[in-house]
Amino acid sequence: MTAEGFAVGWPGRGEPVAPGADGPAPTLGAVFPFGAQSPASAEGGTNSGRFGVSGAVLIGDGGRISEAAPTLTGLGLDPVRSAQLVYLDPPYNRGGSFDGYHDNMPRHDWLTYIEARLRVAHDLLADTGSVWVHLDDAEAHRVRCLLDEVFGVESFIADLTVESNPKGRQLDRYFAGSHDRLMVYARDPEQVVLEGGIAAAVNPSDFPHVDADGVNYRLLPLRNTNKRFNPRTTPTMTYPLYGDPETGVVAVDPAPGLVEVSPVFGDLTPAVWRWSRDTARERVGDLVCRTVNGRSGRRVDVYQRDRHEAGRVKKLKTIWLSEEVGSTDTARADLRAAGVDGFRTPKPLALMRRIIELASSPGDLVVDLFAGSGSTAVAARDLGRRWVVVERNPDTVRDVLLPRLGASSA
Ligand SMILES: C[S@@+](CC[C@H](N)C(=O)[O-])C[C@H]1O[C@@H](n2cnc3c(N)ncnc32)[C@H](O)[C@@H]1O
Repeated sequence: MTAEGFAVGWPGRGEPVAPGADGPAPTLGAVFPFGAQSPASAEGGTNSGRFGVSGAVLIGDGGRISEAAPTLTGLGLDPVRSAQLVYLDPPYNRGGSFDGYHDNMPRHDWLTYIEARLRVAHDLLADTGSVWVHLDDAEAHRVRCLLDEVFGVESFIADLTVESNPKGRQLDRYFAGSHDRLMVYARDPEQVVLEGGIAAAVNPSDFPHVDADGVNYRLLPLRNTNKRFNPRTTPTMTYPLYGDPETGVVAVDPAPGLVEVSPVFGDLTPAVWRWSRDTARERVGDLVCRTVNGRSGRRVDVYQRDRHEAGRVKKLKTIWLSEEVGSTDTARADLRAAGVDGFRTPKPLALMRRIIELASSPGDLVVDLFAGSGSTAVAARDLGRRWVVVERNPDTVRDVLLPRLGASSA
């Protein structure tokens, strides 16, 4: 039971599962020397492996990863309370059977199996870390409840919709399934370090003007457009500014030739500014006075010059389209491009890169307890993260994961 008194139940919950019921304790399948595949990015890390090791592939049950902790510690990859990102992409329990694994456990057993791995993920994460759980609508709603319980309701970050099959699965019974769910929770909501935005999401055409320094910018109303904020609710944010709509000049104090401008909504009811008077004084050079044709006729207003500067990011939406992050088809193409075939449910590299970039920094440790074809390992390696991935099926490791990483079994 959590602090909020929130818990879900199912028959068999809490009953012990025999060690080894879901595969043996993980043993080392291969170790990757630091920088061997991606020297430039890997060496940029702030938290690099102490022993010259950037990554490790383990063969066995990801739920038993702590049994491999002594070995991983020896390599400088101890994941306990130090992973910045734990990614879980388990069998979705849709009833299918794939090349290397079955996807049809009885629901109650599957929930017990997932709960155990959520608790393992919780134990692996650093205070600044986050867990990302990839499922589809077969079980996602039950796992959201479990995540609330294991990580805490207040640790919820996002429940993302990821388009995985843009054509839709026409063989589905009622609707053509086309998306997955990606649920994100913090280890500690007060300390989590996670970006919600990326530079690629910024659309340069949203910044149509060019300033004297050649930097593109857009004009944003300085007025707060949210009607919840008005002189009654936010009295300190209403004050007059002074401007010249011909030259664009704005001042905080009255001056000859400048007209007084107060914030108003389109219907001329009083509004408030988004900046305090002190901020307006400090950043007066970023303000522009303009005449506008509003709903209630022509009036003078004040705008903020919002520049498209290097390093600018935009928050991502909670729906991730396949044109941005790839699909199962492009993920299979990623595999074929690496000269590997025979794994039907890989995740696209573009998606894994996005997740890893949002949730971690170079040198941080990324852990995947259901490695499959190794998309997480490849993306983490290429982005200069340290990484540990665990796959239960030795054939998948031998025939897909290691060849993809360009290595043979250790
Ligand atoms: C949905 S696939 C993961 C695909 C992977 N994200 C990729 O990009 O290729 C699930 C994988 O988890 C593996 N698996 C299932 N149970 C496991 C366990 N207890 N420990 C480790 N791997 C497991 C399966 O063999 C399968 O390869």
